[in-house]
Amino acid sequence: MIRLFTQMRLIFIAMVMLLSLSACENSAGNMHTVPAEEQKADESAVPDSDTDQDKIKIAFAMDTLLEERWPRDRDLFREAVEALGAEVEIMAASGDDALQITQMERMISSGIDVLVVVPHNAEATATIVNMAHSAGIKVIAYDRLIRNAEIDLYVSFDNERVGELQAEAMQKQVPSGSYVYIGGAETDYNAHQFKQGVFNVLQPLIDRGDIRIVFDQWSQDWTPASARANMEAAFQANGDQIDAVISANDATAGGVIEALEARGLAGKIPVAGQDADLAAVQRIVEGTQMMTVYKPIHLLAEEAAELALKLAMGEPVVADQKINNGKIEVPSVLLTPIAVDRHNVMDTIIADGFHTEEEVYRNTEK
Ligand code: BGC
Repeated sequence: MIRLFTQMRLIFIAMVMLLSLSACENSAGNMHTVPAEEQKADESAVPDSDTDQDKIKIAFAMDTLLEERWPRDRDLFREAVEALGAEVEIMAASGDDALQITQMERMISSGIDVLVVVPHNAEATATIVNMAHSAGIKVIAYDRLIRNAEIDLYVSFDNERVGELQAEAMQKQVPSGSYVYIGGAETDYNAHQFKQGVFNVLQPLIDRGDIRIVFDQWSQDWTPASARANMEAAFQANGDQIDAVISANDATAGGVIEALEARGLAGKIPVAGQDADLAAVQRIVEGTQMMTVYKPIHLLAEEAAELALKLAMGEPVVADQKINNGKIEVPSVLLTPIAVDRHNVMDTIIADGFHTEEEVYRNTEK
């Protein structure tokens, strides 16, 4: 009897081990089918076991998680949607247009209520908007505009103002001389709006002959490597006769500053950026970057989440601005960006908890 009992226990233990082994294999197998970045963005998209079938479902189709801001957008948007009692599914496309479209098609056919998109490519994303509308799904462009499509809403910062803030700060520091403009990705409409803002401020000074633009290029896919190559080309064309650099964001400003460092010019030529990335804010207090433009992303994520829910419930949405996207005047909500240099880091970025004082002043006295 005792022998029979021991044998049964052994068989039971063997079965449990076999079952857990096969579960491990399954989950490892799944991981290989999803690209790393998509997997990461999507971690929390796995529905909770207590998923309520009646909950509103918002999909967030992101271009990338590469720059420091985007994982923050992802987390804040998820928190904001969940705090409103809805569900969110998040995917990121690693800067790949085709993948982003496939992901959006998948989300549309899974029965979502609203599609919120950060497009990789302002034009290419347009095709998905009709598809969403045919399925009765409203589309919000998040941070970046979708061009030539009848999107329902656009929620962003005032991107022209971002460029104006950069140029106003630079023009105070360098009222005359040779300027370099290092743009963002040409495929991102924001990059055009940032540039427009810069030239709103600089054009009168250029016309007066105070300022000369000696180099002006887009940076492929916003990469620091492309920005660095652009900055090196600017030096090749102009020698060291460069007085100021405006770079479309902090990642590209990082590439520019590497090129300056290689020539012993970091901290000597002022550089403007955008995003308040930690590395950029450290450079500001350490003296190699002059300024950044801080965009309080929690406001954007919360606004977008609230508006998405309203659209899903068919409630009226107040969007008092209009931006032309080549096809329609898109109802738009544009938040206010803030210029930050070493004088107001404490009162803005640190006061908001965007970065901590310890992180920012790691090597520096305030
Ligand atoms: C965003 C910037 C960001 C850039 C690169 C732009 O569309 O507005 O904040 O740095 O994309 O991701």
